[in-house]
Amino acid sequence: MQKPADTQYAIHDLLKSRWSPRAFSSQPVKAEDLGSLFEAARWSPSAGNSQPWSFVVASQTNNEAVHQKFVGTMRGRNAAWTKNVPVLVLAVVKLNAEMPAMNRFAYYDVGQAVAHLTTQASALGLYVHQMAGFDGEQIRQIFEIPAGYEPITAIAIGYFGDLDDLPPDLREREVQERTRKNFPEFIFSERWNQPLTLEKAEVLADI
Ligand SMILES: Cc1cc2nc3c(=O)[nH]c(=O)nc-3n(C[C@H](O)[C@H](O)[C@H](O)COP(=O)(O)O)c2cc1C
Repeated sequence: MQKPADTQYAIHDLLKSRWSPRAFSSQPVKAEDLGSLFEAARWSPSAGNSQPWSFVVASQTNNEAVHQKFVGTMRGRNAAWTKNVPVLVLAVVKLNAEMPAMNRFAYYDVGQAVAHLTTQASALGLYVHQMAGFDGEQIRQIFEIPAGYEPITAIAIGYFGDLDDLPPDLREREVQERTRKNFPEFIFSERWNQPLTLEKAEVLADI
């Protein structure tokens, strides 16, 4: 199923076609492709090249029991759809005990690494769905995450599956229109709240 971004300016098709599905196919992800995703994350920029990210992978085909434990940490409706996702990844941030003021950049850096991973996934026909809805303490125990590190997001990776595998409420959300704020709400010129004026894009060709 396609849910391309309804853009006013041209963006690359890899970005346009990305969205966060819940209907995942159980088709395994090739090890080589998974390697490409983490390579993309690895080469992402970070403050002082600190690379504060770590990832813990739970693959359904490699270890069903660990995958199930991961799913067991999901909160709310996340538990209903993540059981079908072939690869679940925990993104972990390394915190800086000596300079806690730097931690906000560490969070920023991990998010950016995951953004790069996501775009690489798009290029390989894979989908990524990031999640904050999981029990961080439970997952810390399951994966033995040491002190000084913090689980931040869970990341579902795989191919789009079958809408009919979702419970009715999630099926409805899956087909909902994707929406975004408009430029004047968040892009300003010269001072806060003064919308930037841009010329209208004449032809909206994909880049
Ligand atoms: C940090 C973060 C946490 C999220 N947490 C959840 C979540 O717990 N469950 C869920 O279904 N989606 C979650 N999402 C997905 C967002 O709801 C989704 O990205 C947003 O609605 C925009 O939709 P799109 O990614 O399809 O463009 C999360 C996304 C991010 C970046």
